[in-house]
Amino acid sequence: GKVRAPTHIISTISDDRGEEPCYAGVPMSSIVEQGYGVGDVISLLWFKRSLPRYCTHFIEICIMLCADHGPCVSGAHNTIVTARAGKDLVSSLVSGLLTIGPRFGGAIDDAARYFKDAYNRGLTPYEFVEGMKKKGIRVPGIGHRIKRGDNRDKRVELLQRFARTNFPSVKYMEYAVQVETYTLSKANNLVLNVDGAIGSLFLDLLAGSGMFTKQEIDEIVEIGYLNGLFVLARSIGLIGHTFDQKRLKQPLYRHPWEDVLYTK
Ligand code: ACO
Ligand code: LMR
Repeated sequence: GKVRAPTHIISTISDDRGEEPCYAGVPMSSIVEQGYGVGDVISLLWFKRSLPRYCTHFIEICIMLCADHGPCVSGAHNTIVTARAGKDLVSSLVSGLLTIGPRFGGAIDDAARYFKDAYNRGLTPYEFVEGMKKKGIRVPGIGHRIKRGDNRDKRVELLQRFARTNFPSVKYMEYAVQVETYTLSKANNLVLNVDGAIGSLFLDLLAGSGMFTKQEIDEIVEIGYLNGLFVLARSIGLIGHTFDQKRLKQPLYRHPWEDVLYTK
């Protein structure tokens, strides 16, 4: 029989050995000729399958809506300071990306994990939120520095509107909305944020598309694919901030003394 030399790497998402590279078995020429978009490419390279158009459109909307949020947020601030320190594009980009985490942009996976678990266990919003409080864990996907009950995040509304029109079911999102109704009754800043909206809606996408087994959904949520959406999206804005600072020939940034409370 054939003897196969042992390999050091296993790869299942792409292949460049043929006449043209393939993403999950789909050749480049099909991607171009059939008018695939970036949502389709993400489907192939992350989920290893072609997803229905409403799913790839939803992915593209997430990317567009999270691409930037002005110069004052953690990621853009770090990128701007780094670019102004004379560093290159990659350094400025990763400096911003490194702020993405449990408080900023990187709460999508945990929001999906906790909402999924609470919904599947049939917890009421009260039981879920108060249970988290007892454990000393902030509810991922809830809360915002500037958004309020009377000044909601437009991105959340846009995502919800798209899903209500296009998804076969939005049960996880509706659960997240019920959680928000409860948290807003406690404090006006405890809105469903964009991480929570994407986390809950992606659960609906995975469950409602009929393209994933229960085991695959569990694996996606457990591994944590969804923060990747924010990382990818925000890279667009962070690259833009780097070019902006270079174009404006901004000098080295130094924070003003007046804005620091020096104390013992
Ligand atoms: N769950 C429960 N309670 C919360 C939450 C939450 N998610 N967020 C804030 N609170 C409570 C705080 O405990 C605090 O109450 P306390 O003073 O009695 O302890 C009160 O609300 C005010 O909290 P602050 O710390 O002032 O809120 P802040 O504006 O600093 O925090 C943040 C904003 C970091 C987004 C916070 O709400 C949070 O940690 N949320 C969960 C993580 C998350 O979803 N991050 C993504 C945000 S969206 C984005 O980055 C694109
Ligand atoms: C963002 O997308 O960067 C914002 O939601 C964060 C913020 O604090 O405004």
